[in-house]
Amino acid sequence: MFLSVSVFLSLIVVVVAFYYTQTNSAMPSLAAIRASNAAFFRSKPAPSSAVAANVPTAVFVGGTSGIGEGMALTYAEHTEGKSNIIIVGRNAAAAERIFASMPRLLLISNPNSQGTILSRYAKINYLVMSPGYSTLAERGEAAVVSVMAAGYGGKIDLNDLGLKKGYSPTYNDLMMESFAEQAPNITYIHAAPGFVRTSLGSSSPSPTLRVVSALLVSLARPLSVSQTECGEYMWNAVASTATKPGAWRIGSKGEDLGMKRYFGGEEQRRRVWEHTVEVMRTALATSGPETPKAEVQK
Ligand SMILES: NC(=O)c1ccc[n+]([C@@H]2O[C@H](COP(=O)([O-])OP(=O)(O)OC[C@H]3O[C@@H](n4cnc5c(N)ncnc54)[C@H](OP(=O)(O)O)[C@@H]3O)[C@@H](O)[C@H]2O)c1
Repeated sequence: MFLSVSVFLSLIVVVVAFYYTQTNSAMPSLAAIRASNAAFFRSKPAPSSAVAANVPTAVFVGGTSGIGEGMALTYAEHTEGKSNIIIVGRNAAAAERIFASMPRLLLISNPNSQGTILSRYAKINYLVMSPGYSTLAERGEAAVVSVMAAGYGGKIDLNDLGLKKGYSPTYNDLMMESFAEQAPNITYIHAAPGFVRTSLGSSSPSPTLRVVSALLVSLARPLSVSQTECGEYMWNAVASTATKPGAWRIGSKGEDLGMKRYFGGEEQRRRVWEHTVEVMRTALATSGPETPKAEVQK
């Protein structure tokens, strides 16, 4: 049993190593990407005053840990505190820890409280979705980043749009395309972050997955990146790769995947959109938005 687990893990490491070298060999170094991201944020017009309404706003759904936290921390660093950073998540204690290191932060505990965010901030410039999805004006000032698994999908089953039998990241490709059709001035990014050292595996309800994930994280450590390194790579996508509005598929260093391992199409996009609109219409007709349970503002 132990032998087969070891063999299985070794195989995964070899595959990840192979994929890593093949996909990223032409990418600039992390230091170069960090400098390019810093230049991107410095190039933005200086806010007319430090008043909350005049500085850019970024919302991180899933920003209390992992890749969302990494992206929030790198955004705070690059904007040097001259930004509104909003974190949506359930873990208030984790948010407090991040909160302490940032000059300005609003924590909203309930993801259904988007109305509250919009009533406080005239515009959301960046929306980062690291547990799931998206929404929002002009490129250069507005982008949606959905961190999931671009390029790791397969064909979708048009007879199973309710996802009773299975899920594929292809759905996220299709939704980014549909959102881009609805709002053609906004950049929509579906990113695959690669192998990032986060609590994703260790917080799994499955004991087997927790053990395998702990083993994998230590064995493949040289091939993985920290959450703030991943944050730089994901911001690289916003700053340097996705330079035009529309739907983008992005790899682990923020590079353009183009149509690599793409399994969507026009018919699939239309059917998934129509199904999603119908599901949302039904859900909104039967339940209104919840009131936020807790808010912390600094
Ligand atoms: N880590 C990797 O190597 C890796 C690789 C490929 C793809 N990905 C994808 O990247 C995304 C982020 O992964 P991660 O590693 O950053 O995960 P993570 O460390 O577990 O963080 C997930 C975040 O989502 C929040 N969250 C979960 N359910 C939520 C809900 N119902 N409402 C609001 N917030 C919720 C959690 O906050 P609260 O607990 O505070 O709610 C937490 O901040 C996932 O889609 C994952 O599949 C990750």
